[in-house]
Amino acid sequence: MRIDVLTLFPNMFSGPFAESIIKRAMDRNLITIMIHNLRDWGSGKHRVVDDYPFGGGTGMVMKPESLFEATESIKAESAYPSAPVILLTPQGRVFNQGIAAELTALDQLILICGHYEGIDERVREHLITDEISIGDYVLTGGELAAMVVIDAVVRLLPGVLGSEESAKDDSHTRSLLEYPQYTRPQTYRGWETPQVLLSGNHAQIAKWRREQSILRTLRRRPELLEKADLSPEEKELTSYS
Ligand code: ADE
Repeated sequence: MRIDVLTLFPNMFSGPFAESIIKRAMDRNLITIMIHNLRDWGSGKHRVVDDYPFGGGTGMVMKPESLFEATESIKAESAYPSAPVILLTPQGRVFNQGIAAELTALDQLILICGHYEGIDERVREHLITDEISIGDYVLTGGELAAMVVIDAVVRLLPGVLGSEESAKDDSHTRSLLEYPQYTRPQTYRGWETPQVLLSGNHAQIAKWRREQSILRTLRRRPELLEKADLSPEEKELTSYS
């Protein structure tokens, strides 16, 4: 998979992709991430990419030329002309694990990080094919949102996670939150690890974990339970608690 990012702040991306699982995936050529500086397509000596809004008002608007030309030059070199062009914006559809899974199946993504008061509407109408928000709050720009999307998508690519880090048990894949985890020491400051986890009885442990997942989801995110695949006994558990 290849991901191209168009941004006014390319340096913001150096930290997150230089560490851990994403770095390992890049080193193993499972993913190519190209960060493009939008100013390279800016106009004039000052590489201008924004201008005042027609009709007045505060803030600046991203001009169409640099966004169209940058995207077209990426597409011209690409083997995947149908790659989606995704704008990160609080106005987009709200990102979740389902959208991450949908994007992981594609060969290329082009991500555009929005800035200032917004982008010229003609970019939305004639260039962008999808708009994604990472939540109902406003960031200073689309960069952090792009990093979140990339991280969630890349870890789902085949071979990126080792078997011990497998994504198939991810809480949001099953619409249930994770069960509590414990590690050594068995007793810490007098706080005990639940006995069942020390029992060696794998069936009992699996049952306890499943119940804990369901109860935690019920208390914290009850709306998720509607999509969860629960047995009749498990449904009963949620109605008594
Ligand atoms: N840009 C600013 N805020 C954002 C958000 N919540 N999601 C995606 N892009 C953004």
